Amino acid sequence: MQKIAKNLIDWYEKNKRDLPWRKTKNAYYIWISEIMLQQTRVEAVKVYYERFIQKLPTLEHLAKISEDDLLKLWEGLGYYSRVLNMQKTAKLLIAQGKKNLPCHKDELLRLPGIGKYTAGAILSIAFEKPNVAIDGNVYRVLGRYYAIADPISKGSTYSVYEKLMYKILPKQKSGEFVQSFMDLGSLICIPKNPKCNICPLRENCKAKQLNKVHMYPVKDKKKEKKIEERCVYLYIYKDKVAIQKRNNQGLLASMYEFPNECDTLCEIDIENRLLDQKISYQSVIEIGESKHVFSHVIWYMKGYCIRLKQPLKKYVWVTKKDLQEKYSIPSAFAYYCDFFYKL
Ligand code: ADE
Ligand code: SF4
Repeated sequence: MQKIAKNLIDWYEKNKRDLPWRKTKNAYYIWISEIMLQQTRVEAVKVYYERFIQKLPTLEHLAKISEDDLLKLWEGLGYYSRVLNMQKTAKLLIAQGKKNLPCHKDELLRLPGIGKYTAGAILSIAFEKPNVAIDGNVYRVLGRYYAIADPISKGSTYSVYEKLMYKILPKQKSGEFVQSFMDLGSLICIPKNPKCNICPLRENCKAKQLNKVHMYPVKDKKKEKKIEERCVYLYIYKDKVAIQKRNNQGLLASMYEFPNECDTLCEIDIENRLLDQKISYQSVIEIGESKHVFSHVIWYMKGYCIRLKQPLKKYVWVTKKDLQEKYSIPSAFAYYCDFFYKL
């Protein structure tokens, strides 16, 4: 076995974190944890993971739950397309008479929402098949250990890391090997001020030897995020607020939201429009600004509370209780959700 693999696995066996998804080899559970962990911190995932597998203990449960209940279960985790894709996959597999995920890479890669990372994680962790899963931890640990010069955002760099990973991948204990990167990268080889003095790789780590740990992994300048100014409308009728379902493509696909648009209107503009459209209202009040940073866009939002004299048919009208129990509104709207709860 390569020295780096031996050092990592020995360290992992002594120091691994006690995490709920490490108590199982059920591929369905491993898959859930890996999808949740893709954009969310371990601490936050723990609670969601336990609740999810309790509510949906098998692939069949996941295939059968209603989309709105599923989104509610995922509420707070964000990147909701992850869970919608999981349900697509569950439905496909159940329709084929399967009870769990397949254990072959090509079959896994054909399923919605399962890419190289997830397939590698499932194969190595659940099925103990020699596979790798390359995430930010791998980029950091390997990037430093070998002082790799290729910038991680460059398309061809993935295969540089992948080749190296397969070169050092041991024939056995692939689950331990893969997860050792996750734990070393989260506990020791952390982004800022890594704890090299207690690192099991310190003797052969190139970046450490060169005293250039902070220069690896090599990153390019980040792309600027697009800025969008939006008006968000809290239409109120009696004790209800209007929400609508977004379409099933793109940002926040299939989520419920408060009506909103890319624009910078003021109270008078909104009142004029209501008058034009012959919508009778009591009041239009500005309720404050809020900002939400997505992966590629930033929303600068300005909210308005619009009290109507009749409900508009095109919206779903919900009480505070409905909003809490049945519908999930993305955290981008958290400020306006709170405003409604406090009304
Ligand atoms: N991050 C992604 N997958 C993980 C896992 N299996 N354990 C800990 N952290 C992770
Ligand atoms: Fe990371 Fe330092 Fe360990 Fe190298 S020695 S792998 S930089 S923690």
